[in-house]
Amino acid sequence: MDGNGRWAKQRGLPRIEGHRRGVESVRTVLEAAREMGIRYLTLYAFSVENWKRPQEEVGALMGLLEFFLKRETAVLVRNRVRLRTIGRVCDLPDSVRQLLDRAIEATSSFADHTLVLALNYGSRTEVIDAARAYAAAVAAGKEKLNDSSWTTFSRYLSTADLPDPDLVIRTSGETRLSNFLLMQSAYAEFVFTPVLWPDFGKADLAAAVAEYTRRERRFGQTSDQLTPTG
Ligand code: IPE
Ligand code: MG
Repeated sequence: MDGNGRWAKQRGLPRIEGHRRGVESVRTVLEAAREMGIRYLTLYAFSVENWKRPQEEVGALMGLLEFFLKRETAVLVRNRVRLRTIGRVCDLPDSVRQLLDRAIEATSSFADHTLVLALNYGSRTEVIDAARAYAAAVAAGKEKLNDSSWTTFSRYLSTADLPDPDLVIRTSGETRLSNFLLMQSAYAEFVFTPVLWPDFGKADLAAAVAEYTRRERRFGQTSDQLTPTG
């Protein structure tokens, strides 16, 4: 979700106004994704690197996260959407963590749709955390180093119980991943759109999904192997 600041700047507004509008896009896209039958939606809401922003902006983002959770928890329950997080949530302010815990608890029984909020998330810290946990499991005799495989190691990532993303969308015209799900998106399709996040709506999501359906996913195989003739 990128481009909130530029959206505001274009209008001569403070950056926080762009973030405020970005929250409305989250609501729209969440609803659109559910209607389209997308079972897992992960939103990169706050990265481990975002702490480097001015303190005032970080505070405003945390405030908006609280606002979102207060307003949307009932909506998630009504729509039977399970909330999950990835990232080092323990380092978020207590007030945010309490609201997160409450929303996660209230939606934990739902299975059809999952909203994953990436909060204080970064792929490299995730891999470090997983490597530590894996090493501890090896030391404790719960894992065998010789049996190491992606299947066994990936169980130590924060996404252990989540499927890999099929499609990764980045808004605002930037064409980089910025430490987002680097391992999990090894075979994801990418759509980069110039649309700024506050302007991103249902039609933009539908267009990205349509683009996705036109791609041929080969997973290392040849095209002929995937569509044998005769
Ligand atoms: C939203 O957009 C990113 C976050 C949710 C932190 P930005 O704040 O990065 O917007 P730009 O890149 O300055 O336009
Ligand atoms: Mg940005």
